[in-house]
Amino acid sequence: MTEFGGITLALSKGRIFEETLPLLAAAGIVPTEDPETSRKLILATNRPDVRLVIIRATDTPTYVQYGAADMGIAGKDVLIEHGGADLYQPLDLNIAKCRMCVAVPRGFDYEAAVRRGARIRVATKYIQTARDHFASKGMHVDLIKLYGSMELAPLVGLADAIVDLVSSGGTLRANGLVEVEDILAVSSRLIVNQASLKLKHDLLQPVIDAFAGAIKP
Ligand code: PRP
Repeated sequence: MTEFGGITLALSKGRIFEETLPLLAAAGIVPTEDPETSRKLILATNRPDVRLVIIRATDTPTYVQYGAADMGIAGKDVLIEHGGADLYQPLDLNIAKCRMCVAVPRGFDYEAAVRRGARIRVATKYIQTARDHFASKGMHVDLIKLYGSMELAPLVGLADAIVDLVSSGGTLRANGLVEVEDILAVSSRLIVNQASLKLKHDLLQPVIDAFAGAIKP
């Protein structure tokens, strides 16, 4: 492992990266490269003591848990699936907001299926969240783990329903699906490695404070 004495912040491309930029700016941090155009996985910033690592959203808690990154920004959806063990979560940054819901093909009578206790098949990337949700309703479901494009599953007979994130609702509409249940409001949180917080307190705390001051309601 390489020794970098500064702050390593783990981010994923897309909405999390874009919506984190104003928070970074508030902490005086400006990336010198754009992950959408650079293929580098470690990005420098204007501050020699701060670097960014660009990873898959689902991997962010793992990098922070093991201290490979001192801090990271991850969605509540990802944190629930990871379990959040050992991670300090000081701030809900109120960015990358969306919701997790149950969706079915238009015309599928979900309520009737629930009422008669039907065992339905549900495709999702979010096994833990889905399991907890259906267990809390006393429903028996067969969960099928997928890694993306969940909306396809009911269209080709792989599942009766999906549990997925919805932002604009455009993907559901485009595929003839409708939301039938809201499970969770999702936003991204700052997560911090506990050991880093102690060892690099003087470096990390000002960044945490700057982020806290820049959160939009
Ligand atoms: C997410 C989510 C939905 C879509 C919702 O997928 O899984 O498919 O965005 O957004 P909308 O309501 O604005 O249409 P993402 O693009 O992250 O890819 P994924 O299928 O790999 O999860």
